[in-house]
Amino acid sequence: MMFLYGRAWKGTLLYRRLEATRLIERFEMHPGSSARHVIGVMSGKGGVGKSSVTALTAVALARRGYRVGVLDADVTGPSMPRMFGVTGADVPPVGREGRPADEILPAVTRRLGIKVVSINLLLDDESAPVIWRGPLLMGMIRRFWIASNWGDLDYIVIDLPPGTSDIPLSVMQSVPLDGLIVVTSPQRVAAMVVAKAVNMARMLERPVIGLVENMSYVQCPDCGRKMEVFGPSTGEAQAAELGVSYIGDMPIDPRLSELADAGRVEDYDHPMLDALAEAVERATVQAQ
Ligand SMILES: Nc1ncnc2c1ncn2[C@@H]1O[C@H](COP(=O)(O)OP(=O)(O)OP(=O)(O)O)[C@@H](O)[C@H]1O
Ligand SMILES: [Mg+2]
Repeated sequence: MMFLYGRAWKGTLLYRRLEATRLIERFEMHPGSSARHVIGVMSGKGGVGKSSVTALTAVALARRGYRVGVLDADVTGPSMPRMFGVTGADVPPVGREGRPADEILPAVTRRLGIKVVSINLLLDDESAPVIWRGPLLMGMIRRFWIASNWGDLDYIVIDLPPGTSDIPLSVMQSVPLDGLIVVTSPQRVAAMVVAKAVNMARMLERPVIGLVENMSYVQCPDCGRKMEVFGPSTGEAQAAELGVSYIGDMPIDPRLSELADAGRVEDYDHPMLDALAEAVERATVQAQ
């Protein structure tokens, strides 16, 4: 099978026709919003910690004084409100004081003032499933992009759905992403699918900021020994093989899952946060 990458694909008649018929659509932001940079977090496999890395990237950037928003585009597994401890009650009412009724306002986190947009903030019942098919899900993400009134931000960090299926593909095509952080784990199957994710980013000409290996090991709290529960770390080798930079690895840390479950991800600290913020700063400053 032949792949057409980036410019070659954009030069094809098929691409031009799709674009002309608006089947490949570029979303415009709400007129009240601006974001200097948009970063996506993706993974090949689900459950490797993509949402955690999204949240930690946002926290790391906010700690450096940037104005940060998080868009939860993983609409069937929205976990951002839970991690940041915000609910629908934290979303300001829309349509007041002459404001339009159809805009989406983010919830603002207490500690760092991170702005969060997620379907779970709009549902009455957090456990209600979003049982929508692709086109409707895409319609929802489109609405999030065009109707969210973020104000002025330095960064929007997007939690993309896992994998390389319809929705992550459409989001990557339609939202102006400056770069992608790719999350993997030492499991072989994760390594295999992460290559697909990186190749998808390349085909769509979205720069890969770097690779993060999550759940690399567990450290025994008593003896300090590292146990490699998913096998030896492969992140650095995976990154080298894929020709992307390696941001670093993170252990399985009970404190992270505890804080995330308690809605206090903003209280977490680990050297990885600096590594994430530096990788993003490097990639986005270069892009200017
Ligand atoms: N380094 C870590 N240490 C401890 N727990 C972690 C770590 N990374 C993730 N977790 C926990 O593992 C679970 C899955 O992580 P997360 O939700 O970030 O993964 P995901 O890739 O977004 O999953 P999905 O594909 O379902 O969206 C969560 O409960 C999270 O708190
Ligand atoms: Mg997730």
